[in-house]
Amino acid sequence: MPRNARLQAFEVGIDPAHASFLHRFFNDASLEDTYGKQFRGASAGEIDGEKWPMTRVMREFDQPDIAFTEQPYGLQLTTLRPMTDKLTHVRITNALFPNTFVIPLSETMTITQMHVPVDDTHTYWYAVFTSFADPVNKDAMRNQRLEAVSLPDYIPKSGRHNNWGFNPEEQMTRTFLGMGEDDINVHDQWACESMGAIQNRTREHLGTSDKVIIANRRMLAKAIDDVAAGALPPGFAKAEVANTRLGPDTVDGIAPAQDWPTWSRHTMQAKRDGAPWDASTPHAP
Ligand SMILES: [Fe+2]
Repeated sequence: MPRNARLQAFEVGIDPAHASFLHRFFNDASLEDTYGKQFRGASAGEIDGEKWPMTRVMREFDQPDIAFTEQPYGLQLTTLRPMTDKLTHVRITNALFPNTFVIPLSETMTITQMHVPVDDTHTYWYAVFTSFADPVNKDAMRNQRLEAVSLPDYIPKSGRHNNWGFNPEEQMTRTFLGMGEDDINVHDQWACESMGAIQNRTREHLGTSDKVIIANRRMLAKAIDDVAAGALPPGFAKAEVANTRLGPDTVDGIAPAQDWPTWSRHTMQAKRDGAPWDASTPHAP
């Protein structure tokens, strides 16, 4: 099993349960002025005519039912948080083997995040934003993220040297983690850096909520064997299938408990249909 920082960073990203704890805010921000901010926007759908911030869903429903299906590109994850007899929160995300995930940022934007190895202990972290509505506000997105790094080499300002900005007063009163409310990427950074550059995985105790981590590691181990035997790894797009690799789709919303698959399909399709660019996916999985 390869053990490197890239894998740690990727595993944080594909873990559907962590947001309820690592990114837990004790208070919700206004749904105004949430542009570009992960988990601060509203989930799609409503409860009793009310929009819910994702932060509230994550906080109040912290034991998700996690499922996944294998796809040609890797794994599609479905995370359900049953809310009432009639409603469930559904979040559909994707792990693109071996180092990319695609998740919803808001009702109209997705994040495609890539963790690209530099060496065994360092990884580049790229984020690509896709808007299905107005064009991405590049200045706003760039400025939000430049606040957290120093140029020219994009080194994070928070890290082990300053205990990732940990503030015990904040942890007691405002957040589960105590590492800031403005940039949740610091939380994820702490999760993968604090365990050390190469985590000793022989001493782990993986549980039910880690089922996607386990599936991804099995896929990785098999891919290593396959490649050693001369076969192609999963997700490798041969020329004849490359142009069928469209999507994958994401959604974060409050759905009818009994019919969330149909609701999810319609919501994702409506997002594509409403896009001002050609977002159709005739061959998408
Ligand atoms: Fe996270």
